[in-house]
Amino acid sequence: MEFTLIAPSKTIFKAGAVEEIDKLVAGYGRRFLIVIDPVFEKNGTLAIVTAAFDKCGIAYTPYLGVVGEPDISYVDECSLQAQEFKCDAVLAIGGGSCVDVGKAAAGVITNGLPVKDYLEYVGTGRKVEKPPLPLIAVPTTAGTGAEVTKLAVIGSKKEKFKRSMRDDQLEAKLVIIDPKLCVSAPPKVTAIAGIDAMTHLMEAYATWKATPMTKALALAGLELAGKYLRRAYDDGSDLEAREGMCMASYLGGFAFSNSGLGAAHGLGMAINVYYPVPHGLGVGITLPYVMEINANDNPMLYDEVGKVFAGKSFDKPGEGTTFAIDFIKKLNAHIGIPADLKELGTDKETAVLMGEKCFGTSMTGNPVQLDAKAWGELFLKLI
Ligand SMILES: [Fe+2]
Repeated sequence: MEFTLIAPSKTIFKAGAVEEIDKLVAGYGRRFLIVIDPVFEKNGTLAIVTAAFDKCGIAYTPYLGVVGEPDISYVDECSLQAQEFKCDAVLAIGGGSCVDVGKAAAGVITNGLPVKDYLEYVGTGRKVEKPPLPLIAVPTTAGTGAEVTKLAVIGSKKEKFKRSMRDDQLEAKLVIIDPKLCVSAPPKVTAIAGIDAMTHLMEAYATWKATPMTKALALAGLELAGKYLRRAYDDGSDLEAREGMCMASYLGGFAFSNSGLGAAHGLGMAINVYYPVPHGLGVGITLPYVMEINANDNPMLYDEVGKVFAGKSFDKPGEGTTFAIDFIKKLNAHIGIPADLKELGTDKETAVLMGEKCFGTSMTGNPVQLDAKAWGELFLKLI
């Protein structure tokens, strides 16, 4: 066996951690770029952070421009802002978009603009040569796992692409997970982020690239997500459920950043080439269909997953897999993830094209490899 394990140097998991952020970030920098979702300015979180920084003399420049999916323009804007302010560290507070923008910026600030140069497939092949600024990631939606990955997924609305900036050095130096920050997430955000976390866990579990370590992390996360996603969706103030989903998301990010993903992420990326829907929606819609395709090839693939979802063993091989697929379909229905792509109004020609666009790094990890025509047929079934 041979594997490399990437993990953040330090993780602090604590409800209310953000209130003591000045103590937690001590030693990482004195001049911070704060990339923060504008929602957290409105609800007073930014004021808590800046008051704590003021108290101990840490200088900062906030960037509140991230709206929706992470765009190359956001990374370039905030990197320039940080260079002008002479920042020596980056604090990213928000969902996956903010964390990914902050993560990419940490690399771009020291290595030079523009971020597009570093993106796989669409860039110039430029590498992160100089060490990025230390990144402190504070995720506020339990879903993307961006706080534990070594890549930033950045897109362009104008040029219609979504690609990764990938380098081991981009891994956050410190991750602060404060489940209290998730309490304000509305049910729709909880559902979309939560099903993204579930998909990371499922794909990290099923990929042929999994190691015993990543499989164990993924299975532990699947048990938590199976137990808590519905609860967090039904009652956002349920702190136990929020904690459970924060942990599930963290485990998912930890697992997939070391094992890779699978076809639901390949298909989800293809959907995002044509439609600006949230990432979690695309992968969540396609997850049960990908599980069915994978289970056709290996009917016992998800038996252990079915066991942790059900909290009991099954009599016959394959029954757990059937249960796991059905569980995801019912969960999706409960939390409002559609069963198909009808609401996008996709025509047949685009469905076929999406089948051709799904071949990125994620797709290579899927246990079953199909051609563009076959994936296109799945899209045709869903429109
Ligand atoms: Fe994802």
